[in-house]
Amino acid sequence: MKAAPETLHPEQAAFLVRQRVARLATADAAGAPHAVPVCFAYSGGGIFIALDDKPKDVPPARLKRVRNILENPSVALVADRYAEDWSLLAFVMVRGRAELVEPGAEEHAAAVRLLRGKYHQYEGMRIEDNPVISIRPERVASWGALAVPKSEGPTILDAVRGRRSVRRYLPKVVAPDLVDRVLEAGRWAPSPHGRQPWRFAVVTMVETKERLAVAMGEEWRANLEMDGQAPEVVERRLQGSRRRLLDAPVLVLLCLYLDDLDVYPDAGRQESETTMAVQSLGAAAQNMLLAAYDLGLDAGWMCAPLFSPGEVVEALGLDPMLVPHALLTLGYAEGDPPKRRSRGPLEDLIVYRD
Ligand SMILES: Cc1cc2nc3c(=O)[nH]c(=O)nc-3n(C[C@H](O)[C@H](O)[C@H](O)COP(=O)(O)O)c2cc1C
Repeated sequence: MKAAPETLHPEQAAFLVRQRVARLATADAAGAPHAVPVCFAYSGGGIFIALDDKPKDVPPARLKRVRNILENPSVALVADRYAEDWSLLAFVMVRGRAELVEPGAEEHAAAVRLLRGKYHQYEGMRIEDNPVISIRPERVASWGALAVPKSEGPTILDAVRGRRSVRRYLPKVVAPDLVDRVLEAGRWAPSPHGRQPWRFAVVTMVETKERLAVAMGEEWRANLEMDGQAPEVVERRLQGSRRRLLDAPVLVLLCLYLDDLDVYPDAGRQESETTMAVQSLGAAAQNMLLAAYDLGLDAGWMCAPLFSPGEVVEALGLDPMLVPHALLTLGYAEGDPPKRRSRGPLEDLIVYRD
């Protein structure tokens, strides 16, 4: 066990940042202890804990932890990792002084931002109306394997390289909360002016998938025939596409929504504005593909809606302002995942200009 005065060692800080829950110990003026699990955020400035309205029977200011802090600001917070493999056990304990930061203070706004960044659930709660508990570390102790063990899951780069397009799925339902988490990843994509110029339509019912397949199939058939493809080839390709749509447990249609973007008097800038929206739709799609991979799902990308946007809007009864661009399939891959396609060498993609 080692103790460091006041500031956290980078390894301790990194460990704390990764933990989703900690235990906060307070004591009243007589020293009677009290401990509760808390969601918390850490930044160099301290540790912050929101007072939300979860316990309906007690207003935040009457919570025992708050009354204790007002009587006796000495607190301790411990965050730990437990694993059956005891070589992975670890904890960080911070002792310090707690205070209540009231709404309106600069530190309060920063703490709320930090907490919402870590826990998306806080976005739907009015935590900005309540004080935030702030802890200034005075003594820090830690023990065990603070560094991330391999078992804590793949890194983002593992996901970037491991993800691959899947085109055949098992008939296995995808839990709705997993789909929500994939959509949530899309929501966090970068976008022009932060305006999120996209909408996601989620399709799971066979009848709706069928309508979609018919809507996109007609246009594709016409195009393939125009290209002079043999009738049996046209039929095979259409059947393949239809099967992909019907067999995938979940379809997510990514549509452009340009109404919130800037309007320019000249066509050139307007076109660039639209291009930025398309670029960010691609970023949203990639976020979703990576999130799906991270959640143990498989996913694929179909460009078909791009070629018959009007028919797709009609088939799904969407707002005519939406422009369908891409369809992501979600589910669990059938059989062994296909081998990842190779990529051309990096040198071929880069031009250095020092
Ligand atoms: C804009 C875009 C459109 C795509 N459209 C299709 C499609 O219509 N059908 C399909 O099977 N794959 C489609 N893909 C997937 C690519 O074929 C795939 O990403 C590529 O072959 C690399 O394979 P990987 O994703 O497994 O690494 C599309 C990908 C992108 C980025």
